[in-house]
Amino acid sequence: MTERADALEFQMSQELDRIAVRSVIYDSGERDPAGPLHRPPQPEGRFFLMSHDRRLPEMPGQPTLIDFFRYRLAPASHLLQSAALARRNGLEEKLVLACLLHDISILGFIRSDHGYWGAQLVEPYVDEEVAWAIRHHQALRFYPDASVGYDYPEAYRKLFGEDYRPEPHIDAAYRHARNHKWYMSARMITVNDLYAFDPDTTVELEEFTDIIGRHFRQPKEGLGFDNSPASHMWRTINWPTRYL
Ligand SMILES: [Fe+2]
Ligand SMILES: [Fe+2]
Repeated sequence: MTERADALEFQMSQELDRIAVRSVIYDSGERDPAGPLHRPPQPEGRFFLMSHDRRLPEMPGQPTLIDFFRYRLAPASHLLQSAALARRNGLEEKLVLACLLHDISILGFIRSDHGYWGAQLVEPYVDEEVAWAIRHHQALRFYPDASVGYDYPEAYRKLFGEDYRPEPHIDAAYRHARNHKWYMSARMITVNDLYAFDPDTTVELEEFTDIIGRHFRQPKEGLGFDNSPASHMWRTINWPTRYL
């Protein structure tokens, strides 16, 4: 009886639950852009979601970077493995952090132009060089550097085809980075940016707690609530399906 009552209560709460929506960017290209304004239907008596989406784990009120890893980015194997490789290769701590964060936008936010979005997300909280390296790794990935044994990724041939060539703005970003004092920092992200250097090895987030503590300035109000230039982006990762 209790089980049935619980099930009924759950079903009712589901029905009463707010309507979650997707931002236009999620299905842009799949709809007719000339069609009517993208506005999901609102059934009688129901409201749109304006807070937490219950399909996602709820984040603490003052979320930390580690909370975001746990609740929004997990398992984040690619980031953890890249950071572990960077540490094994003897990179300094802040560059290990750069490797740990380099694709954070792909995992939790927006894929297109991920280096730029990722850099903006972390910029208020890390050394300027770390954000710079994250921003530029996106362009550098397309350009080999024999001096450090970095080749054009085989994976890119498979993903984008043999004839893909980076657009002029990416080429310009590469040339800018090539002559910059922090070139090697961004280049080191690409060198350690491997899809799986050892697929059987599980890397735990806890292995990087100290590095995060030393090199990521966690705001006491929590990411999203500290009124930094990136707060709204963290809030969107926390609550991606709010109506507004
Ligand atoms: Fe990347
Ligand atoms: Fe990557």
